[in-house]
Amino acid sequence: MTEQDVQDVQPVIELAGISKRYGGTYALREVNFDVRPGEIHALLGENGAGKSTLVKIVSGAIAHDNGTLTIDGRVQRFATPKDSADAGIAMVYQEGSLVESMTVAQNLFLGQEKVFNNLAHLNVVARELLESHNFHIRPEATAGALGIGQKQMVEIARAVHRDAKVVILDEPTASVTPEERLQLFLSMRRLKRKGIGVIFITHMLDEAFDEADRITVLRDGEVQGTLAKPEFDRETVVQMMVGRNVEMGRVTPNREPDPTPVLQVEDVTLLPVVRNMSFSAYPGEIVGIYGLVGAGRSEAAMIISGIMKRRRLRGGKIRLNGREVRFRTPRHARRAGIVYITEDRKASGFFGHLSIADNIYLGHLCGSPRLPMLIRPGERKSVAQRFVERFQVRTLEPNRATLEELSGGNQQKVVLAKGLTRKPLVAIIDEPTRGVDLGTIPEIHAMIRALADDGVAVVVISSYMPEIRALADRILVAKHGTIAAEFDPVEADETKLMFAAVH
Ligand SMILES: Nc1ncnc2c1ncn2[C@@H]1O[C@H](COP(=O)(O)OP(=O)(O)OP(=O)(O)O)[C@@H](O)[C@H]1O
Ligand SMILES: [Mg+2]
Repeated sequence: MTEQDVQDVQPVIELAGISKRYGGTYALREVNFDVRPGEIHALLGENGAGKSTLVKIVSGAIAHDNGTLTIDGRVQRFATPKDSADAGIAMVYQEGSLVESMTVAQNLFLGQEKVFNNLAHLNVVARELLESHNFHIRPEATAGALGIGQKQMVEIARAVHRDAKVVILDEPTASVTPEERLQLFLSMRRLKRKGIGVIFITHMLDEAFDEADRITVLRDGEVQGTLAKPEFDRETVVQMMVGRNVEMGRVTPNREPDPTPVLQVEDVTLLPVVRNMSFSAYPGEIVGIYGLVGAGRSEAAMIISGIMKRRRLRGGKIRLNGREVRFRTPRHARRAGIVYITEDRKASGFFGHLSIADNIYLGHLCGSPRLPMLIRPGERKSVAQRFVERFQVRTLEPNRATLEELSGGNQQKVVLAKGLTRKPLVAIIDEPTRGVDLGTIPEIHAMIRALADDGVAVVVISSYMPEIRALADRILVAKHGTIAAEFDPVEADETKLMFAAVH
């Protein structure tokens, strides 16, 4: 098809003047948007811009207030996700909508069991289906045992099997391995060739430029414009998203690190994921740990911070200011001065039903040397306010919003704030800007640098190479549960780092 032909095709999804309000404010306002068969349409925008809200309306998870939603020429108002699925819309959730206790094959054909009441037959058909997508996943595997990337692949295969017309992916690449990421893109292209429309949400501009046929940018719930491939241009898109230019430049230190390490990790081991992991952290320095998803970095961090336990024998040593330590609970570690800020915000980062202020204040209290007898509302307000500003948490109703209602990126900002209201000795920050919009990344990097300049020993774990290179004073590369290489950031180019992480 030529470019012109594609433009003449009738859209499979069309939103006209769609609005959605929460309380008095608009999450989406008069949105016009469409998806054509066989196109990948990227949806970009800052945290809280309304991207997830838009796709939730299309997938029937929430209802719109005004405007019309047309699917395949028919005006629709979905009451449930099932209505949307019946109309051919498949939503691939990041957290996954598979039944964890069932096998991959059972999940693929859920709801069609009568046709496949023979388990062996079910597995054969499932294998064929997965192979036709080039997904290397065993149909007999339990869904719960799969990684995020693989779960998404199963969902995509299921969508195609059910003749979906549109597949929606909300930040599918946020926490997958580089190989899975590639697989995802290949499968998006395959969907495209089958004439299926794809909505693709991402914070990585390069992904959108490389993979999308069109890009729509949202800002504060309003569409700023839709660009076709020839119009793709970094500066234009950033301007539409943020309203100013942003660069992820290197943040340089304002001091020399102390000569004595505050944290020494020696041969820490928790098989099979962590093996003889050793490194040190110095006050005033940011040490970056680069590696692929699954290299054992988060597990090592959790051992250090008392969340996971290593064996007493041959589990390795951890010293804080020269003294050997072993924490019973994360709270003990925190009181001793070690804070770990999780990458897995959904599972362990926050209290979903509490407000932003309560979440930040609880984090603050948890770091206090003694458990306070009284909650001081004044203190809660001032601490929360300070950190909401610092991390640019954006929400429609800051005083009422619970964490559940925040957009993904804004949740991440609260998780960071919660861990950093008090100055620790050591701050281990795991994937600090996952899901954070590109306008705010430089601010968060500046915050992390300020911590180090203030004398904190900062350990940043990141699978995002530009981030490691922008932040770290020293780069460690983790591979198979151990530190495999160390680099000076000046000499570490992308090839060297990737080589060390993979080979
Ligand atoms: N159930 C809800 N109640 C109140 N406000 C909500 C609710 N759901 C979303 N919002 C608000 O609507 C706005 C848009 O949120 P949305 O999740 O669509 O953003 P997003 O573009 O997906 O951002 P991110 O990149 O951070 O995921 C946010 O300000 C959010 O706080
Ligand atoms: Mg979102």
